[in-house]
Amino acid sequence: MAAAIRLAALADLHCTKTSHGAFQPLFARIAESADLLVIAGDLTDYGLPEEAAVLVKELSALRIPVAAVLGNHDLESGKSPEVRQLLVDAGVHVLDGDACELQGVGIAGVKGFGGGFGRHALAPWGETIIKQFVREAVDEALKLEAALARLRTKHIIALLHYSPVQQTVDGEPLEILPFLGSSRLEEPIGRYPVSMVFHGHAHRGKLEGTTKTGVKVYNVSMPLLTRTFGDRPPFRIFELETGEAGRAEPVPAQTPGRRATDVLASAS
Ligand SMILES: [Fe+2]
Ligand SMILES: [Fe+2]
Repeated sequence: MAAAIRLAALADLHCTKTSHGAFQPLFARIAESADLLVIAGDLTDYGLPEEAAVLVKELSALRIPVAAVLGNHDLESGKSPEVRQLLVDAGVHVLDGDACELQGVGIAGVKGFGGGFGRHALAPWGETIIKQFVREAVDEALKLEAALARLRTKHIIALLHYSPVQQTVDGEPLEILPFLGSSRLEEPIGRYPVSMVFHGHAHRGKLEGTTKTGVKVYNVSMPLLTRTFGDRPPFRIFELETGEAGRAEPVPAQTPGRRATDVLASAS
């Protein structure tokens, strides 16, 4: 008998020192609607431990497993080890090139990096600093690959902060597109049986895209979700079949007329 897991996803909370109480209604709604939550980075605004402490308190009512990756904002103050530790101590699975299995769903997480997309991606050529920039994206892609290789679950989720495809960052100013993601992150996703990809970072991007091997990519940035679905809480929810039968397609809750729409109704 197949069972279904409801997975909630969001990104870019940008929790500040004054966010006390701001996220509790959102997390209460997620707790009612989902069995599992993934957060695709920028949990804090300036990467301060004080901000992470506020977020941890906000999360305390949420009694479902949570996996997260850090975003660039979480690194801003050079205190990401403290931020990470606060989250880990609160039970959040903070992934950085590693993987975890929650409710039978495998999650491989990495922050990722920029560099641009397709044939316009930055190449490691010329100045040392350009080579270092590209190397960072390559290293993040290698970390993602190592994390994906560890999972044997029926469903594998790739959790990133930066986008692996251009489609979900389109809508942002053209000048900053290369800083919002990298096609290098798309390569390992194509080599493993990934069910879906989540990222944030592109607050003004697009909701959905597809990798060249057909894997769905979801930009779950809260500002984008708030703008798009103004009448409901800013998170997305997906139903994943976890039974013994063949590998099922994940079903976006917002797809009209599909079974998972019922999940959305209970969430809004
Ligand atoms: Fe952000
Ligand atoms: Fe970001």
